[in-house]
Amino acid sequence: MPKLRAMLESDLIEIIRMEAVANPVPWSKLDFAMALQSNQVGLVIEGIHGNVMAYLVGQIEGFIGHIYNVLVNPEFVRQGLGSQLMKHFIELARIAHCSEVWLEVRAGNDVAIKFYEHWCFAKVTVRKKYYYLHTVRKFEDACLMTKIL
Ligand SMILES: CC(C)(COP(=O)(O)OP(=O)(O)OC[C@H]1O[C@@H](n2cnc3c(N)ncnc32)[C@H](O)[C@@H]1OP(=O)(O)O)[C@@H](O)C(=O)NCCC(=O)NCCS
Repeated sequence: MPKLRAMLESDLIEIIRMEAVANPVPWSKLDFAMALQSNQVGLVIEGIHGNVMAYLVGQIEGFIGHIYNVLVNPEFVRQGLGSQLMKHFIELARIAHCSEVWLEVRAGNDVAIKFYEHWCFAKVTVRKKYYYLHTVRKFEDACLMTKIL
């Protein structure tokens, strides 16, 4: 059965491969390594063969939780894995007495926005030209979304 655990340095090769496939604004290995070395929260769902099925990186800073990156291997989407990660992060934020969780998402990422709305995040504002998509060489706006805990 898939299990949720902390992200490890040894997951990064697989994670970088998944970023390249499924994230138009991919994080580098250094981004993840820095997240692991700082006090950020890195979570992984490991499959029965030891493979990375999904992951989340966030941070709890004072009374605010931030979600920076969440991704499910395209082979395993819509099976509740993203929700499992979200539920765990929200639990951590609640334990830390956070009052809100914040995140930014590409304005055109309808699937992710639906996922966050499912988790009762609401759009707060739009940050113009926040992302640069190297593959198509264009900027895209970000929606800032928040969930009150
Ligand atoms: C967004 C993402 C993390 C969702 O993960 P997931 O494991 O597929 O989501 P879940 O199965 O937990 O879905 C929970 C709910 O979110 C909504 N949802 C998820 N995917 C959806 C889709 N393709 N269309 C519409 N609603 C969707 C639904 O309400 C769903 O509940 P339901 O299946 O009972 O209808 C995943 O699609 C993904 O990794 N996308 C690519 C990376 C990405 O865009 N990350 C966000 C960056 S900010």
